[in-house]
Amino acid sequence: MREHWASRIGLILAMAGNAVGLGNFLRFPTQAAQNGGGVFMIPYMLSLALIAIPLMWVEWAIGRYGGVRGHGTTPAIFKLLWKHPTAKYLGVLGLFVPFVVVCYYIYIESWTLGYAIMAILGGLPTAADLGQLGTPDYLAPFENLLKSYTGMNGTGIYNPSLMAYSMFIITVVLNIFILIKGISGGIEKLAKVAMPLLFVFAIILMIRVLTLKTPQGSALDGLNFLWTPKWDQLSNPKIWLAAAGQVFFTLSLGFGAIITYASYLGKNDDLVLSGLSASSLNEFAEVVLGASIAIPAAAAFFGVVAAQDIASSGAFNLAFVSLPAIFANIPFGNIFGFLWFTLLFFAGLTSSVAITQPVIAFLEDEFQLSRKKSVLFTMGVLFCIAHIPVFLASALDEMDFWAGTFCVIVFALIEVMIFFWAFDPQKAWEEINRGGIIQAPKIFYPIMRFITPVFLFVITFWWVIDILPQYLTKASWTAWVARGTLMGIAFALCLLVYISDRKRR
Ligand code: PHE
Ligand code: NA
Repeated sequence: MREHWASRIGLILAMAGNAVGLGNFLRFPTQAAQNGGGVFMIPYMLSLALIAIPLMWVEWAIGRYGGVRGHGTTPAIFKLLWKHPTAKYLGVLGLFVPFVVVCYYIYIESWTLGYAIMAILGGLPTAADLGQLGTPDYLAPFENLLKSYTGMNGTGIYNPSLMAYSMFIITVVLNIFILIKGISGGIEKLAKVAMPLLFVFAIILMIRVLTLKTPQGSALDGLNFLWTPKWDQLSNPKIWLAAAGQVFFTLSLGFGAIITYASYLGKNDDLVLSGLSASSLNEFAEVVLGASIAIPAAAAFFGVVAAQDIASSGAFNLAFVSLPAIFANIPFGNIFGFLWFTLLFFAGLTSSVAITQPVIAFLEDEFQLSRKKSVLFTMGVLFCIAHIPVFLASALDEMDFWAGTFCVIVFALIEVMIFFWAFDPQKAWEEINRGGIIQAPKIFYPIMRFITPVFLFVITFWWVIDILPQYLTKASWTAWVARGTLMGIAFALCLLVYISDRKRR
C-alpha cells in the first residue's frame, strides 16, 4: 500500500516546504544584485512563465502518473512513459541530482542550526563602533567566526570546528527522525508546523529591517538598489542563464524532488491548482520576503556601496557575516539573530527531507525495502559522502555546479521531451488536467510541447559551449576527487537501476 498525503493543505505546505529554501533568502537576493538588479526580473519572469510553470505541472503529472502505478522515481516512471531501453537510464538523473545536492545542502543547513544556537546563547561577536572602525574592520570578527566555524581556508583540506561537525551530525539525525516517520506522519507534519512559523519569522524580520535607518542609509536605499533596472545588462546572456538557473533552483524543478512528492497523490487529486498554490507561496517567499531582508538590511547599516560589495562577495557572507553583524548592533539583536537563523534552518530542513526522499522512495518501490531500512541506508551513505564537501576544498562548488546547475537543466529537457513527445501529447495534457479544481489554460499546451523544450535546449546548448569549458579548466586535486565521487555515484545508481529492472522482469 503506497503512502498518501493526509490533506490538501498538508500537501501544499509540504510542496511549499520543498520549494522554499535557502535559495529564497540567500541565493535570490545575491543573484539579483549580481545580475543587473531590477532588470534580472525580466528574464526571471519570462523563465517563470515559459519554463517553470509548465515544468511544474509536468513534474506533478509525471509523479502522480508513476505513483498510481507504484513508482515514485524517474527510472521506473520514464520506462512506463517511453518503451525504450535507455529510458530507465535517463531516469537515473532523477536520483543522481537530488542525492548529490543533498550531500552539501544538508551541511549548509547545519550551519544555520549552529548559528541559531550561537545567536540565542550569545556565542556571536558583540557590538563594536561602526563609525570608528569602518565597515571592513567592523565585519572582521564576524568573518573570522565563519572561517573558524567552517574551517574553509581556500585550498586543500578544510578544518571544520567541533561545533560545525556536531551540528552536522545533529542535522543528519533530525532528518532521519522526520523521514523515518514517513510522508504524512513525518514530512507533512513537519511542514504544517515549520512553514507557518517560517512565514511569521520572515514577516517579523522584514518589518524590522524595513524600519531600519542609520546615518549610513536606510532599507529603502537597499530596495532601490535591488529593484532599479540596469537596462544595458539585458542583452548579456549571463543574466539570462542566471535567471533561468535561479528559477529552477528555487522551485526545485529538475531535481526529481517534486516528482517523488507528487507520487504520493491520489489518481484524481487536483494538481493544477495545488501546484500553482505551492509555487505562489515560494514566489512570495522569494520576491517579497527574500528580497526585503538581507540586502535592505545591509544597505541600511553599511550604506548602499558597501551592501553591493557584500552582495557580490556571495550568499554566505550576506547570511552568516553581515546579518549577524547588523543584529549585534540593534536592540534585542540576539532575538532577531535567532529568528533569522531559525527561519533559515526551517527553510533548509523542509527542503533537505524533500531532496532525500527520491532515493528512499527508489529503494522502497523498486527493492521492496521497508521504510526504515531505506531511510537508514540512504542516510548512512549520504552521511559518508557528505564528508567530501565538509573536508575538501572546492568539492561543494563542483557538486553544486555539475548536479545542481548543469544536470538540472538537462534533466528538465528530458522530462518534457519524454512526456510531451515520446509519451503522447494528448494524454499528457489530459494527465495534467485530470481531477483539476481548475484547468490549465489552453495556451500552455503549445508552450509545453514546443516553447519549453526549445527554450531548454537553447539554455543547455549555451552551457555546453560557454560555461562548461571554463569550468573544466579549473582542476585542483580536490576538484578531481569530487568529480570522481560524482562518477562513482552515477555508476552505482545505474547499477541499482539495472538490477531492479532485471528483477522486475
Ligand atoms: N528549492 C530549494 C531552495 O530554494 C532548493 C531545493 C532544490 C530543494 C531541489 C529541494 C529540491 O533552496
Ligand atoms: Na525556493
